[in-house]
Amino acid sequence: MAEKIDGRKVAEDVVAAAKTGADRLKAEKGVVPGIAVVIVGTDPASQVYVASKSKKAKECGFHSVQHELAADTSEAALLSLIGDLNADPAIHGILVQLPLPDHIDSGRVIQSIDPDKDVDGFHFINVGKLGTGETDTAFVPCTPAGSMILIERVRGRDLSGLTAVVVGRSNIVGKPMANLLLAANATVTIAHSRTPDLPGLCRTADILVAAVGRPQMVKGDWVKPGATVIDVGINRIAAPERGEGKTRLVGDVDYDAAAAVAGAVTPVPGGVGPMTIAMLMANTLVSACRRAG
Ligand code: GUN
Repeated sequence: MAEKIDGRKVAEDVVAAAKTGADRLKAEKGVVPGIAVVIVGTDPASQVYVASKSKKAKECGFHSVQHELAADTSEAALLSLIGDLNADPAIHGILVQLPLPDHIDSGRVIQSIDPDKDVDGFHFINVGKLGTGETDTAFVPCTPAGSMILIERVRGRDLSGLTAVVVGRSNIVGKPMANLLLAANATVTIAHSRTPDLPGLCRTADILVAAVGRPQMVKGDWVKPGATVIDVGINRIAAPERGEGKTRLVGDVDYDAAAAVAGAVTPVPGGVGPMTIAMLMANTLVSACRRAG
């Protein structure tokens, strides 16, 4: 039976380190890390994410502000708010929760964030730094950065000689994940919906990362014996066995089947999810430390 990788525990360690770092920065430089989280509209899932980000920031002793804008907010008004946050010396990290309403150009909004405050790592400058191996100065997107820490816990920092398959090619997870694995010397393949023989390709992976948003798509016989399996998916499915109308969260991996074959697997919930918010705290602390000099 595979090791269950406890993302909650690792995330607690990362958050505790961010809190300690924030206390030290305050004591030594008089600087309190500040994060601004911006949400446009009332998407319930986004509201839950944003509330937990703000709560975690307060737990870390950060200055945390939340801007909740109406769904019909104009792009100009949002860009103006970001301009103000870019100029605000008390704010070191700016996060605009995605997706944005259709009438707003998300790309333009993301590119308007000061790259030095882009704790999501979505700005072209940070994407480019990661892509060129400047991982020391890039802000790395939080979900892949957190996944990488979980992989390190199992496999160490140097992945030389190991094959990695990332299923999913999104800008938020798949592509940055592949770049991080490459920077750690893994031999990396990105697979997606047009990849032939996906099960066969996945079976070659010592490290398998699933980030596609399809409930339990990765089956047990897709997993190489002993592999490290990182499940980025968070999908809500019907759970009639829990009662009428009940639902439960599952990942992109069929956990029980994968755990019978793999060396280590992240559960959902309690795997990658808690790491995402923890890495946002870590990135915000790094930004504040850089600004403080
Ligand atoms: N929506 C879903 N994931 C993310 C994320 O990591 N950052 C932001 N800003 N929005 C998201």
